[in-house]
Amino acid sequence: MTTLTHLLTDDARGARSSVIREILALADTEDVLSLAGGMPDPATFPIDDLVVASSAAIRDGSGAALQYGRTEGMPELRALLAHRFGDRCGRARTTDEVLVTSGSQQALDLLGRAFVSPGDTVAIEDPGYLGAIQAFGQRRPQWLTVPVDRHGLDTADLEASIRRGARPKLVYTVTDFQNPTGAVLHPDRRRHLAALADRWGFVVIEDDPYGQIRFDEPEHAPIARWTDRVVSLGTTSKTIAPGLRIGWAIAPPDIVSAVARLKQAADLHTSSLGQHLVADLLSRPGWMAARGRSLGAFYADRAEILRTALTAALPGATIEPPRGGLFLWADLPGTDTRALLPRAVAAGVAFVPGSAFSPTDDGATTTLRATFATLAPDGLEEAARRLGSVA
Ligand SMILES: Cc1ncc(COP(=O)(O)O)c(C=O)c1O
Repeated sequence: MTTLTHLLTDDARGARSSVIREILALADTEDVLSLAGGMPDPATFPIDDLVVASSAAIRDGSGAALQYGRTEGMPELRALLAHRFGDRCGRARTTDEVLVTSGSQQALDLLGRAFVSPGDTVAIEDPGYLGAIQAFGQRRPQWLTVPVDRHGLDTADLEASIRRGARPKLVYTVTDFQNPTGAVLHPDRRRHLAALADRWGFVVIEDDPYGQIRFDEPEHAPIARWTDRVVSLGTTSKTIAPGLRIGWAIAPPDIVSAVARLKQAADLHTSSLGQHLVADLLSRPGWMAARGRSLGAFYADRAEILRTALTAALPGATIEPPRGGLFLWADLPGTDTRALLPRAVAAGVAFVPGSAFSPTDDGATTTLRATFATLAPDGLEEAARRLGSVA
């Protein structure tokens, strides 16, 4: 068979493959209980509401839900998103500040292309969201890694790096129930980061897919409340269904226009049908607030089941009680979790070692991320037992 790989660009060849991903691909069988991905439990999908909304959208007579649409997104959906975000920011936001994207992952890819030239400095949480590392990594940046503690991105550390001469062009943070650690960016740090952006002229990308899945944590204002040097990302992947692929970026209108030009080349526009469904659901008074409450209660139970089971199975482990989101972060002092992974997969359980979440991927680590989103309670308990048997 002919091979065409020699024709691939450096970018296509350079796309990061990783040992961890290869092991996790092997774990993708029915025999392995996975704590690895971040897939919401399908039992939470709002099936009945989606069926009613789909049928209304498809039959509405105009054909708009099945037709090509505008690159920036469906005007009604953009207006709804602007209004909702305006309430959280404490200042009105306009439709032309919203770009609807094919999941927030597409926003990360487009923003990387819009802002990062090879060699530009990108500041990223360490550990941080793997998809952001991949998206910005394609631009071959210089990484500035910033540690994360239970109050999120350590903005004092970021400031110290800047004062030593680092000049990030872009700073990426997951503000609420961070992937992978579950940390919540403290309100003082949000303000500090905004002040740093204003002082040093970088753009903050605040990514918030999990903010509505809160357990006891109060809601905090987004960074966009304190500065306009920010692009705020959102998605319906964790609150409605990831297969819809509806996400968004909220940014100054000139940035929205520039990023929309890149999006046009990528996919013309986000699925019209998906946008109609989301616009319908978001326009129902109280619908999303009620959904947030029920998801919060559902996943709080799951989180507690997994935390209790792992605490029993892994004596000596430090497990931060999740305050929301879909992930639990554990530290197993004395255990290299990368070396543990193949043994765990052989015992029928998968997780992600902490080193996978670093752009520098520097090998041995004692941390791991486990999701409580996907498995039912008995699966979570059995997964913890299996892990305990090989740890
Ligand atoms: C922090 C973060 N950002 C973005 C995404 C991408 O979500 P989507 O493209 O489904 O909106 C994810 C998915 O897990 C995530 O954890």
